[in-house]
Amino acid sequence: MNFNKTHIKLSILVLIVLSVMSCNDNSKLLAVGNSESQAPKSSDLDKRVDSVLNLMTLEEKIGQMNQYNGFMDFTGPAPKGGDAERKFDHIKKGYVGSMLNVRGVKDVLAVQKVAVEESRLGIPLIIGFDVIHGYETMSPIPLAESASWDLAAIKESARLAAKEAAAAGINWTFAPMVDISRDARWGRVMEGAGEDPFLGSKIAIARVEGFQGNDLTSYESIAACAKHFAAYGFAQAGRDYNTSDIGTSTLYNTVFPPFKAASQAGVKSFMNSFNDLNGIPATADKFLMRDVLKDEWEFEGFVVSDWGSITEMVAHGYAKDGKAAAQLAANAGSDMDMESYLYVNELAGLVKEGKVKESVINEAARRILKVKFELGLFDDPYKYCDLEREKEVTGSKEIMDGALDMALKSIVLLKNENQLLPLKKEGQKVVLIGALAAEKNSPLGSWRIGAKDNTAVSVLEGMKQYDANLTFSKGPDLTIGETVFAKEVVINTNDRTGFKDAVNSARGADVVVMVLGEHAFQSGEGRSRTVLDLPGLQQELLEKVHAVNKNIVLVLNNGRPLALPWAAEHIPAIVEGWHLGTQSGHAIAQVLYGDYNPSGKLPMSFPESVGQAPIYYNHKSTGRPSLPAPGIVFWSHYQDDSNDPLWAFGHGLSYTDFEYSNLKVTDDFNSSGKVEVSVVLKNTGDIKGKEVAQLYIQDQFASVIRPVKELKGFELVELEAGASKTLKFTLDKSQLGFYDNHGKWIVEDGTFKIWIGGTSQAELSTTFELGNIE
Ligand code: NOJ
Repeated sequence: MNFNKTHIKLSILVLIVLSVMSCNDNSKLLAVGNSESQAPKSSDLDKRVDSVLNLMTLEEKIGQMNQYNGFMDFTGPAPKGGDAERKFDHIKKGYVGSMLNVRGVKDVLAVQKVAVEESRLGIPLIIGFDVIHGYETMSPIPLAESASWDLAAIKESARLAAKEAAAAGINWTFAPMVDISRDARWGRVMEGAGEDPFLGSKIAIARVEGFQGNDLTSYESIAACAKHFAAYGFAQAGRDYNTSDIGTSTLYNTVFPPFKAASQAGVKSFMNSFNDLNGIPATADKFLMRDVLKDEWEFEGFVVSDWGSITEMVAHGYAKDGKAAAQLAANAGSDMDMESYLYVNELAGLVKEGKVKESVINEAARRILKVKFELGLFDDPYKYCDLEREKEVTGSKEIMDGALDMALKSIVLLKNENQLLPLKKEGQKVVLIGALAAEKNSPLGSWRIGAKDNTAVSVLEGMKQYDANLTFSKGPDLTIGETVFAKEVVINTNDRTGFKDAVNSARGADVVVMVLGEHAFQSGEGRSRTVLDLPGLQQELLEKVHAVNKNIVLVLNNGRPLALPWAAEHIPAIVEGWHLGTQSGHAIAQVLYGDYNPSGKLPMSFPESVGQAPIYYNHKSTGRPSLPAPGIVFWSHYQDDSNDPLWAFGHGLSYTDFEYSNLKVTDDFNSSGKVEVSVVLKNTGDIKGKEVAQLYIQDQFASVIRPVKELKGFELVELEAGASKTLKFTLDKSQLGFYDNHGKWIVEDGTFKIWIGGTSQAELSTTFELGNIE
């Protein structure tokens, strides 16, 4: 398409590139590509990249390192005045390598045309966007998807999100977020895979593979971005953007693994985190970006800063001014500046002063150009810009079906006493209560900039498909005023309008379904909380309804683990319904009415009380882990709460039951270098169901204390009623070792304990001895 001036300019560029490649004496040009220790391995692609690089001025190379936000109109006449005019002008000059937040084929095409047709070399922009859980059709928030433990489904969900985003002109998503997080107060736990590095690594790979596909040049694939490097999930006290101070053991064994996995899966970019790590802002942390990421892990993509994180180093007290910040970030290996305007303003001067070597600029520009080549943007900069395709793909049946499938798989049945669930399709009077039950916006989740407002299927709509005469009573409002992405949500704490009606409607019902929890904009970026309760008047409403009718099914909507001890004790059935995206109400209704048997398992521990945070199953043991004698206080505990979570990592029920037996070590490491473990899983209930069988180990004595339990394997198994299956797990050195306090991988001999079951609190266990390690 658009076979015009653009293609002529690109053809000229391609000709130059090709002639450079075929030139006998190209050593001078190619030398540029080989001058850096971090340079990607030489290949034809690298040669093409280097030959383009060789045509560029210093300012144009720095331009590749510059990313601007694009909330402006590119489709009309060139913008006049302010930031927009300046950005437009910079694109024309070739001083911009990437735009974010330009979306929709019309707009992307317009901005790409400026870069390709009006800049000297016509180098295409790479268009980035936060495709975190869907683009316009929203899938469940990532934490919810992670509760599926279904890697194929998660990969498919990322593939569909990529397909829809790509059809809207997007080339690059700022996802997956692979930050391990243990503190539910932190609002961004909704964006990750929870607290476990093993599960987190598997999910990181699934998401990278889903977004990037098998062929990055396909118009359905987009580049992915592992973020936020590193330790953002360890923000102190769960307060967003706060400092992270952690030791080598946690950094290497807990924080790094999903990033390393993403790098090994071929992710094309990394993003810095906002926090400082042990006193160094991640954006200027040479250890993170050069030593670990680019050297040790041989990462070949590029690193983008987080929004303004280069300039924020001044507020951190790390850089004395913007110029120093640019110098520190570039030298440390931050290749692209997102919205700090500092690379474009300062880097050329810094190179001239000798404070940043030109080789640093060459390396960064090369990494960025290479990804553009890999995406096929040099072959066709408009490959993502097809209006017909956009129309066909956006909200297509394939994508809607995928969103529903993922939503169903993400639901976790937390409690189900007396088989209150599933609801009967006939002969049962069901009353639905709660402001969130009618919500069509909140279920879309927190990262939903591409979604249209109020496009989620509400629980009310979903349940009405089963019971057209369903009684609904909203109860008091949850929020006051507008709820928008960038603004603080105001919670209703005193307007009781609708309260009495809701309580009255519950009288005489066979079952009351209450949808309670957080509005989606109570979790996500900048949305930390100090209490993990049901916000506003919801707890009071729950208790008042319970006083008139005990048959309550509580459906939770939330972006983080909540601490709900009263509900856990008094409410007979509790369903974790997260923020499940566009198809939310359909998925929840299908589970409530038993058309889908839930199989989700928690990817994060749910605390008893906020004071336990951070609480996670794979903690280390203290020297005083248990009560020495009745009444004695000198052990590691709280006076006013237990050490245990309300619901543990890995917990999740089904409408059927599973039993584990016959756990055996069938082959030990000493003879084969691998440990083979088997267990029999049986569906002992009346219906077909899925179970996530989880394997945990404990290295009982080691030179660095190991966690009391670590997930090292899992399998999602579907079994007919009464059926059983022998499951086999293999453990090798990569699961049995750990990083020491110098970041070195070691495997030590000794006794290991193994547990297998349907939760991290599984009791079926055995041990084996590890010896003969080379
Ligand atoms: C800031 C967030 O921390 C990051 O995750 C996101 O990708 C950028 N903003 C761009 O929107």
